[in-house]
Amino acid sequence: MLRVGGRIAPFINIGRMNTKGKRGLFTLLALVMILGLAGLVQSQGRRFKSPGEQIYYTGIASNGYDIFRYGGPMWIRMHGGGCVACHGTHGRGGVPVMMGMAIPTDIRYKALTGKEKHVHGGKEKEHHYTPALIKRAITQGLAADGELLSWTMPRWQMSEADLDALIDYLKTLE
Ligand code: HEC
Repeated sequence: MLRVGGRIAPFINIGRMNTKGKRGLFTLLALVMILGLAGLVQSQGRRFKSPGEQIYYTGIASNGYDIFRYGGPMWIRMHGGGCVACHGTHGRGGVPVMMGMAIPTDIRYKALTGKEKHVHGGKEKEHHYTPALIKRAITQGLAADGELLSWTMPRWQMSEADLDALIDYLKTLE
């Protein structure tokens, strides 16, 4: 509640301000509110080109709900977020993540399917993932050869349609 004439902060005493000061303060408050509102509208209006891109960037499924995930560092479960937080905008990984024990790998479709070099655990490896094996890695945390992936990689529970959309998006990463 804002009482004109009272104090809204220990260092701002409206009662002691002259008219010019008050006007300035209210103009400033109005500006902050307008900017905040504009930001809100903009963030809600953010549209992704495809459901796959939306999942990659936000971890939000095509039905609008946060995709359930287990494993992964606590921050990805507490604050949400998508693949981009670890694998990066280009999908190439390679950068350690906060509280992570393994380095996120290159998950561009062509790297996963062996058409391009792929670094895993600091070594160059050739992976031969099929779309079904990529889905298994995402949902169950198993590598193409059946080995358990590090728990730094969350296990994501999403619909088959969302998995297909996500894989389509991985195909667009150059
Ligand atoms: C909190 C970080 C984190 C997030 C978020 C994350 N990953 Fe990972 N991911 C990893 C790490 C780390 C590895 C490597 C695990 C290892 O070396 O055993 C990995 C491995 C993978 C692999 C296996 C690749 C390989 O090299 O065998 C796939 C596929 C994958 N991630 C897809 C995804 C997708 C799709 C998403 C988003 C839905 C996602 N990841 C989100 C950290 C993450």
